[in-house]
Amino acid sequence: MNYGHFDDKKREYVIDRPDTPLPWINYLGCEAYFGIISNTAGGYSFYRDARLRRLTRYRYNHVPFDFGGRYIYLRDNSTGKFWSPSWQPTQHDAEEYSCRHGMGYSIIGSTFNKIKAETLYFVPLGENLEIWQLSVTNLSKKARYLSVFSSIEFCLWDAQDDSTNFQRNFSTGEVEVDDGVIYHKTEYRERRDHFAYFACSEKLAGYDTQRDVFLGAYRSWNKPSAVERGRSFNSMAHGWAPIGSHHVKLNLKAGETRIVTFVLGYHENPKDKKFDPPDSQIINKRTVQPVIKKYLNPITVQAAFDSLRSYWEKILDLYQVQTPDKHTNRMVNIWNAYQCMATFNMSRSASFYESGIGRGLGFRDSNQDLLGFVHMVPDRARERILDLASTQLETGGAYHQYQPLTKRGNNDIGGDFNDDPLWLIIGVAAYLKETGDWSILDAPVPYDNKSGSEMPLYEHLERSLKYTLDRLGPHKLPLIGRADWNDCLNLNCFSDTPGQSFQTTTNKDGKVAESVFIAGMFVLAAHELADIAERRGLNTNAAGYRRAAEKMDSTVHTHGWDGEWFLRAYDDFGKKIGSKECEEGKIFIEPQGFCILAGIGLEDGLAKKALDSVNKILATSHGIMLQQPAYSKYYLNLGEISSYPPGYKENAGIFCHNNPWIIIAEAMMGNGDRAFDYYLRINPSAREKIGKLHRCEPYVYAQMIAGRDAPTHGEAKNSWLTGTAAWNYFAVTQFILGVRPTYKGLMVAPAIPTKWDGFSVSRIFQGVCYNISVKREGKGNKVRLMVDGLAVEGNIIPKPPSGVTQVAVQVLLN
Ligand code: GLC
Ligand code: GLC
Repeated sequence: MNYGHFDDKKREYVIDRPDTPLPWINYLGCEAYFGIISNTAGGYSFYRDARLRRLTRYRYNHVPFDFGGRYIYLRDNSTGKFWSPSWQPTQHDAEEYSCRHGMGYSIIGSTFNKIKAETLYFVPLGENLEIWQLSVTNLSKKARYLSVFSSIEFCLWDAQDDSTNFQRNFSTGEVEVDDGVIYHKTEYRERRDHFAYFACSEKLAGYDTQRDVFLGAYRSWNKPSAVERGRSFNSMAHGWAPIGSHHVKLNLKAGETRIVTFVLGYHENPKDKKFDPPDSQIINKRTVQPVIKKYLNPITVQAAFDSLRSYWEKILDLYQVQTPDKHTNRMVNIWNAYQCMATFNMSRSASFYESGIGRGLGFRDSNQDLLGFVHMVPDRARERILDLASTQLETGGAYHQYQPLTKRGNNDIGGDFNDDPLWLIIGVAAYLKETGDWSILDAPVPYDNKSGSEMPLYEHLERSLKYTLDRLGPHKLPLIGRADWNDCLNLNCFSDTPGQSFQTTTNKDGKVAESVFIAGMFVLAAHELADIAERRGLNTNAAGYRRAAEKMDSTVHTHGWDGEWFLRAYDDFGKKIGSKECEEGKIFIEPQGFCILAGIGLEDGLAKKALDSVNKILATSHGIMLQQPAYSKYYLNLGEISSYPPGYKENAGIFCHNNPWIIIAEAMMGNGDRAFDYYLRINPSAREKIGKLHRCEPYVYAQMIAGRDAPTHGEAKNSWLTGTAAWNYFAVTQFILGVRPTYKGLMVAPAIPTKWDGFSVSRIFQGVCYNISVKREGKGNKVRLMVDGLAVEGNIIPKPPSGVTQVAVQVLLN
């Protein structure tokens, strides 16, 4: 069942009924000011840090869900009827409703009693503010006398404190209202030099800033007193809950349209110019007034919206594909790329599932996200890499997370997730292949942010590799530490105390439990670093890394192979995990994917066997499950993985994040049909038709789809902020379509379905636009390359002489 449709031309998803199974959200902002917005205008805004600089309130896990937002009310002053054009919070049955989620903007509106109202929400580039541009049209044959009310509920900045510390917060709230602009200035009198403002383009009939006055006692946002009676109270907040609401009267002739613009923004003043006059407690507004004035002008708004559209067009143009499959086209060309940018901007901080007060930036997560966005924002990727590497410890280990505002490692969680350091090598390698910017390796980077400890980035990579070699277990496989990629396989935790953190509790000394996943990852990372070393002329180092890789490869053959698939791990007793000998959890997806990505078993048939086992045991029509059989009870020696009911999350859920590892492995084996089949099973657009079961947005990936053991098999959860975005993008663009940056140039190595007769890609790589057209001649994947009309050996397009910006590439597949 569909709740809307894709408008690929406009790069929008159009939702045509408000009661989606879950709020279907979008993101506003791409630099410093951000917001989430649902299809019924729910959501909130923040400046840089969703926890520490929260502008507006949102109520997570509220009933009804998705509560708190950018709500507008309309009131027909002749009948007293009022409604909200975004459906929430009044939930009126509209004659027509639509929400268009686009690249960095949303347009939400409806028609009710012949009044059509639509609001465009977006954040202009380079500004710390959001625009709500409301347009109201009178579709009836007579004049209509309307009132418009805006509403926003201010958060007292620290979102965590805001929702817990009521004994203080009910007394701190302060606002000013000046020239129709509502200023939220809680704590401005003391150490804050920032405030929020909410402005309106029209002459006000009134305003409100105190929530309880605006709503009335015991009322909710669906029936505010002020709206019901058709007149604001001009209330001033003193403590309690400051809000912003403007009241504007609109008299519309038959057929007339009027635009009303609201601007909600964040502003910082220089510390010594906070007050005006200086000896008062009144906000100095001279610094912000020009910005407000600028954006209350519809011409500026239109220009800002146009620049936002070109910004996205430019980013998306870097990789555009035409294949016979529309789901592939729209995910690659629009939504998957867009989601990768959301994970870059948000990491795992703010979504419908991430409350904005939880995690910092994950070390592992951020390195992986890079695979998806490095070509879109290479400069910012460079900065991200250097930030991440600066939190690395001298041992080569890494803090599991860091806080974006301070850029410091997070002490509450600490380190010892033994896969973490290796992700840095994989991230840096992706950056180098994409940009050719070798200078990054010489950038001086501190350890643990300590000044004086700076070493070239290259040295950080060496320590990452060494970190694994310094920590080998009884079988000479890497020790797992607190966990590897699977945060929930906690082999040294042994927790029997409710509420203890599986991530940080360590009750075993960690000298026994080993990870075959890290072994695979090590082989991959060691070869990547060897490639890098060779290019820097460090041939002896490179040879050393290759030897270490080969040794680990052979250790995996001896101690990491179970007969039909790769083992997952050894536990603290030295017993196998992910083996036919186990009662539950006999086979796991991760080592099958990562060992093959590293090239282990490609030649001797192990890879093929492992992939056939995945196909037989783990694959379902909704995607590939993480392991089987699911754990039916809690295992002290396994930790969080067995804490989830069977079929959910890491306990045999379909983790969309690691399905692409299998897709890549299949592509590496030349199985385009299977690779593509797996790809389509979790492709959100392809799942649109089962929207009622899938429930999450059909335009972005979710972290998980419930596995076969779950009563809700096929239901997705935790959309948007997941490594799934980057990995699927990486798998489809670089392995199925096969257009892959390498040190020598752009490689074309497609593994597409046999029934495709070809496809074309335009890819901008290091400033050159490659127009690649692939034609199938036979059923295989052998590539014959013609570059600008000339045959070229192999499958790598040589870099053209400088000055050339367009290259035509013909590929024949046999
Ligand atoms: C979550 C985490 C990621 C982890 C995965 C599996 O997605 O963000 O770091 O690898 O779960 O546990
Ligand atoms: C929980 C989640 C896991 C995630 C981790 C991050 O363990 O189940 O998916 O990776 O938290 O902290």
